[in-house]
Amino acid sequence: MSQVGKPLRIAFLSDTHFVEADDFNYKQWQMALEKAKSTDPDIYLVGGDITNSGSKKEAELFFASIKDINKPVLFVPGNHDIGNKVFEGVEGTITSERIAYYRENFGPDFYAENHHGYQFIMLNSQLFQSGLPEEKEQMSFLKKQLEVEGPKIILIHNPLFLNCVDEPGGNYWNAEPEVRKEILDLLAGKGVVAVLSGHMHKLIVNCTDILHLSCPPTSFGVPEIHLGQGFVVLDVTPSNIHFQLYHVESLYEKP
Ligand SMILES: [Fe+2]
Repeated sequence: MSQVGKPLRIAFLSDTHFVEADDFNYKQWQMALEKAKSTDPDIYLVGGDITNSGSKKEAELFFASIKDINKPVLFVPGNHDIGNKVFEGVEGTITSERIAYYRENFGPDFYAENHHGYQFIMLNSQLFQSGLPEEKEQMSFLKKQLEVEGPKIILIHNPLFLNCVDEPGGNYWNAEPEVRKEILDLLAGKGVVAVLSGHMHKLIVNCTDILHLSCPPTSFGVPEIHLGQGFVVLDVTPSNIHFQLYHVESLYEKP
């Protein structure tokens, strides 16, 4: 019997930013995972900035933390794991060397898996507008994936946009307008139900024909607004999405 269209529960966590097993971020990640497990999800997604520097040691810590989860755990690289988005004046940008290092430690930076009839497409958002050869490879990969039949969920780190589809770029946070438009045009009419991202360290929700949701962090919220830490559980069918925000206690000293 086809599983296409069955309701699917996703635990979506992001921006874990840990370095060591005894740091607050790692402990909060573990607390968030325990809470997420109690919601009995079918699948776990992690929206990048898993680690603070993308080192082998940090990657090993991540894999150790998820080894007992007997459900799929899908994840993408964030700027801390693989390098910043390329734009003028920014240092520490993504390079082919950093991509190779990430792949060595974490595995592929873009890939797809089908679970419960949903095609999950994991993309390396740091590649967008990078001009690297891997950017073209990823774009061809995305086009092929969008031809797969059935509903699709896209996981990236940097959101495509924060407030509106035609907002300007030139900043650290979103995708540049040109590549954003190219991707949004590609996604249209292809059964994409959600584009899930992280990076913003706060919950952001936009709806076009597609839900665009940026997950809050498990590590620390954006300081100036103190929205805090947490994660999101989504219950998804091809025609409907409900989501709920879960809080994670902060171990950091309160201001
Ligand atoms: Fe982050």
